[in-house]
Amino acid sequence: MAKRGISILKDIEASTVINLLNRAYCDEWLAYYQYFIEAKVIKGLMKDAVISELNLHAADELRHATMISGRIIQLGGTPILHPGEWLTHSNCGYDAPTNPDVRAVLDQAIAGEQCAISTYSGILDIIRDKDIVTYDLVSQILSDEVEHEEDLQSLFDDLKEFIEQFKQA
Ligand SMILES: [Fe+2]
Ligand SMILES: [Fe+2]
Repeated sequence: MAKRGISILKDIEASTVINLLNRAYCDEWLAYYQYFIEAKVIKGLMKDAVISELNLHAADELRHATMISGRIIQLGGTPILHPGEWLTHSNCGYDAPTNPDVRAVLDQAIAGEQCAISTYSGILDIIRDKDIVTYDLVSQILSDEVEHEEDLQSLFDDLKEFIEQFKQA
């Protein structure tokens, strides 16, 4: 725990930031696994393009978990140690891909990204002007999540158009 680094927090306790980050940390692990398993079970049209995107996102979510755990430790906290706590501490929960159809999987993944965007945007509102280092880190993650939503939505739109054209043919 680096004392001077923590001393620059303004009007916020390190424990409050650690708590916010630990919840996001659980979200990232759950998002990582959701993408990982979706990429394995998915079926249907344009599946290969979607699998590549899901795998890229999985890698990003794992990178986010790494970034967040590093900041929790810098602040003198401990990242959640037991996977059993991921669900109970997460903001966005976990949506098992019980329907492996490409459209259903994309729908779930888009909803997950939207939850992540709202969560990180909420964290930024709380820590703005109070913890500049976490603010910077969470901003980087948020911009990835915005990109994720856009990538998935454009795949979903392409798929919809493909199906429409197929019906008209
Ligand atoms: Fe993420
Ligand atoms: Fe994401």
